[in-house]
Amino acid sequence: MKKSKRIHELEPEYEKALRSKNIEWVDIGVKGLDSFIPGLPKGDAILVRGEPGTGKTIMCLQFMYKGIENGETVVYITTEETPQTIMRTGAELWEDFPQLVEQKRFVIINLSIDASYASEYSLINKGEAMAIILKVLETLPDVSRIVVDSLSALERRLADQSEFREVFMKLLLETKKRGATTILTAEGIPPRPDITEYLVDHLIYLDYQKHDVIWTRVFVLRKSRSVPLKPQILKLNIETEGLSVEEIPISLKPVWFASKL
Ligand SMILES: Nc1ncnc2c1ncn2[C@@H]1O[C@H](COP(=O)(O)OP(=O)(O)O)[C@@H](O)[C@H]1O
Ligand SMILES: [Mg+2]
Repeated sequence: MKKSKRIHELEPEYEKALRSKNIEWVDIGVKGLDSFIPGLPKGDAILVRGEPGTGKTIMCLQFMYKGIENGETVVYITTEETPQTIMRTGAELWEDFPQLVEQKRFVIINLSIDASYASEYSLINKGEAMAIILKVLETLPDVSRIVVDSLSALERRLADQSEFREVFMKLLLETKKRGATTILTAEGIPPRPDITEYLVDHLIYLDYQKHDVIWTRVFVLRKSRSVPLKPQILKLNIETEGLSVEEIPISLKPVWFASKL
């Protein structure tokens, strides 16, 4: 069986064209992904969708950690997990994670259910939510990586759909204005794309599927402005060191995806 193409192995001309596009590529921190794509363009917005437990939060943390390793300024907006659980997951992945938070190199904006400014029913006001985010961003003019984990939890905590749309678009605008590469997460893979999927530059699905008796995690670059990924579907692994991707073994070809993709 022919091996799947890796851009640097089989399409040197194509890869050369891609790499010379005058784009500043960002390593988003998923191990092994650089064998398939040169990175994602700096300043772009990436939506990561998947059911609970598919690895979205770990991917966001790796994206942040990679930035810190490069000496970048990063901000993590959490609307779902509390800062305590993020601390716990981060500390499981990297020994120095608690220090990074303490030193404010890993900045967390807490819009989660335990945020002190939430109403007694844990709802938040759109203006207040944006004001809190902008207040922090104004203190970090050189921010280059932003995470919003998750849009779904944010949507649930705002009064209605139209408030959510406004906050989502404002967030996109503010991150673009700053040239910060941004990962936003959302729950599930919807039967029809919504506004979030149309407005972002790249769309990644994380999934966990059963095929016969084998469960397989997969990483799918579903949509990408300027970075065609070949193959589009990769095998995803979650281990103590975090997420990594590799070519999907032919025996596990995800026929079950036909209806979704
Ligand atoms: N060391 C590990 N080895 C294998 N799987 C792990 C490990 N750590 C976490 N996981 C898996 O990662 C999942 C959590 O991923 P998470 O990023 O929180 O998901 P999401 O944010 O999509 O809900 C857990 O459900 C668990 O199955
Ligand atoms: Mg999560």
